Amino acid sequence: MAVTEDPVAEQHELQRALGPHHLVALGIGAIIGAGIFVITGHAAAAYAGPGVVISFAIAGLGCLFAGLCYAEYASTIPVAGSAYTYTFATMGRFMAWFIGWNLVLEYLAASATVAVGWSGYFNDFMRYIGMPITTAFASAPLSMDAAGHIGLTGTFFNLPAVALIAVVTTVLVLGVRLSASFNNAMVALKLCIVLLVIAVGLPHVVGANHQPFIPPNTGTWGHFGWSGVMRATGVIFFAYIGFDVVSVAAQEAKNPQRDIPIGILGSLILCTALYMLMSYVLTGLANYTTLNVPHPVSKAVEAIAVTAWLAPIVNVGAIVGLASVVLVLLLGQSRIFYAMSRDGMIPPLFSEIHPAFKTPWKSSIVTSIFCAFLAGLLPIDILGELVSIGTLLAFVIVCLGVMILRITKPRLVRPFKTPLVWLVAPSGILMCGAMMYWLPIDTWIRLVVWTAIGVVIYFAYGRRHVKAPRWSLQEEPE
Ligand code: ALA
Repeated sequence: MAVTEDPVAEQHELQRALGPHHLVALGIGAIIGAGIFVITGHAAAAYAGPGVVISFAIAGLGCLFAGLCYAEYASTIPVAGSAYTYTFATMGRFMAWFIGWNLVLEYLAASATVAVGWSGYFNDFMRYIGMPITTAFASAPLSMDAAGHIGLTGTFFNLPAVALIAVVTTVLVLGVRLSASFNNAMVALKLCIVLLVIAVGLPHVVGANHQPFIPPNTGTWGHFGWSGVMRATGVIFFAYIGFDVVSVAAQEAKNPQRDIPIGILGSLILCTALYMLMSYVLTGLANYTTLNVPHPVSKAVEAIAVTAWLAPIVNVGAIVGLASVVLVLLLGQSRIFYAMSRDGMIPPLFSEIHPAFKTPWKSSIVTSIFCAFLAGLLPIDILGELVSIGTLLAFVIVCLGVMILRITKPRLVRPFKTPLVWLVAPSGILMCGAMMYWLPIDTWIRLVVWTAIGVVIYFAYGRRHVKAPRWSLQEEPE
């Protein structure tokens, strides 16, 4: 073992129930969702055209570099908390708080974003079966116009999004094994549907739709041409968010040193391949100019008579697929809070484990209340922008931390070592930093505001209550 844990009170122990296939499924459960089912269409239509396939390859490569660093960390420090815990080990408590606070932005805002996306598909489905949800409860009461001003829509709150979060929370509280089983079933279904779209669509791709593969730039940076491909990379990065959730679950894995790297890298490589194929098929079935709609996948298959029968199946896939993303991201968030609470950064209620279900149930419930509040009141565009920047920052710090640990603790037991770490980690920093740079300035302002709130909470609570970590790093004898 690379890490030894002190004996701790029973009520603070999670259950080791997850094997390698659960972990790969957990990764896929978090990864494939609104990114491919909703955002791809906008990225292709507004920025990259069929070149969005290249955007998926670039973003996938950046995530792979970060994923390799996550894998080394997770095998070396296999306790709950992911990047938060790794940063504690390498850069101390303040930086750990800083990154934990940003992970909250990642998981909480991403799960709320996907719940709102899910609500869009669900409302459509209910209309399709003749039982529409009344407008007053079908969407958020707040909206944002093109100039970024917040206004009222006249509705009360997004009931389907809140209802989904309530159901998912119940499953999460009832057990990690139950959550993983639910997730496995949903992942199997969404994978089948993604593979079906690729298998049925690929032979019918219309060559003309891919000509030119990268449409010429319009004269504005980010509007087609190579700059458009780069901008689309920042936008579709959302589609990869979640692979790091595998490392959050390290303390619930049966053999974390071996299985967490398998879970992270397996899910990431598989999803990159699927995303590239899927976006190739979508932009090949329909012209990219027609894909700026909330349901780009069903829109694309409807463009050709022989694939149109797939449309309702795709919508079911999106409903199930997006629900699994919410489940896994909320699971991740509750475990981040759990780890922070065990270190005394936030109140102890977040690390209380249910005696029968062995889950951090209070953490799950409080997390879900915050998530429901965001998803019930805010529209998808405000939420979505918050997510990527916090995640990318976490990735940059993880890549940095792996290098720091190699220098400060060279003899540490590392069951998985990042290959070519001096190339991979700086490349990860560079690529994730570039994706941050490509994000709109508003997103940076929100990051600063969020960080400022976090710093106030740290000095008001965390700094006064933080304890020495309960795990210690194990080094090889000289
Ligand atoms: N990667 C997740 C999605 O695309 C967050 O929905």
